[in-house]
Amino acid sequence: MIAAGIVAGGTGSRMGNTDMPKQFMDLCGKPVIIHTIQKFLDNSMIDIVVIGINPEWHDYMDGLAEKYFHRNDKIIITDGGADRNGTIINIISELEKHGAKDDCILVTHDAVRPFVTGRMIDDSINKMENYDICTVAIPATDTIVCSDNGITIDNFPLRKTMFQEQTPQTFRTGTFKKVYSALNDKQRKDITDACKLFYISGYKVKLIQGDVSNIKLTYPDDLIMAKFLMENKNKA
Ligand code: CTP
Repeated sequence: MIAAGIVAGGTGSRMGNTDMPKQFMDLCGKPVIIHTIQKFLDNSMIDIVVIGINPEWHDYMDGLAEKYFHRNDKIIITDGGADRNGTIINIISELEKHGAKDDCILVTHDAVRPFVTGRMIDDSINKMENYDICTVAIPATDTIVCSDNGITIDNFPLRKTMFQEQTPQTFRTGTFKKVYSALNDKQRKDITDACKLFYISGYKVKLIQGDVSNIKLTYPDDLIMAKFLMENKNKA
């Protein structure tokens, strides 16, 4: 089985004082999360799309799924967890109720990255032949600096070795359960990135070419940029 896991359990606190979490905000006539889900429904390799939603917004998401996807039986909605990896664990549990075994390939993706492309999804799935985990990423364009205190710079890593992670991040459900269950409580709290979980467990994390347009909506200005990209993407 090949599944998409849309992580949508967050509240979007950095988006500021909004009526609803950012994944539900309007982007050119549709909620952000609807654009995102559609990309995975359009991919013929994906058998099932599981959405891990903030529990307070579960009913709202049910309504959106009915409105936009007419109870498409490829879509399953489950509760998100206390953090991003907790949401992934809940998605895996839901998949298992639907027959997924440990070799199920799970393409996890932020609900708030509506510009993921079919090519990124295809490449991520295809790389599972040779790797246990892969992530979409882009080379850093700005010079990245390190600063422990946030006041002065400690180090200038070589820019050509610097990348910015995006999503999708793809792995098998059984491997995720194995690396997650080996962590102690502190590690679970500190390590929010799924790739880092695999990395510290000794796995090689394969990079998949991302795109600068595959932005994550985090701050209010990102919505303005997303609107611009959505309106102009077919004109380039
Ligand atoms: N996410 C999740 N479950 C959580 C927390 C986050 O599924 N308990 C998801 C978010 O919904 C989002 C993705 O992880 O799609 C990336 O996280 P981020 O941008 O940090 O989202 P939020 O946690 O919602 O935002 P903020 O940190 O500003 O509160």
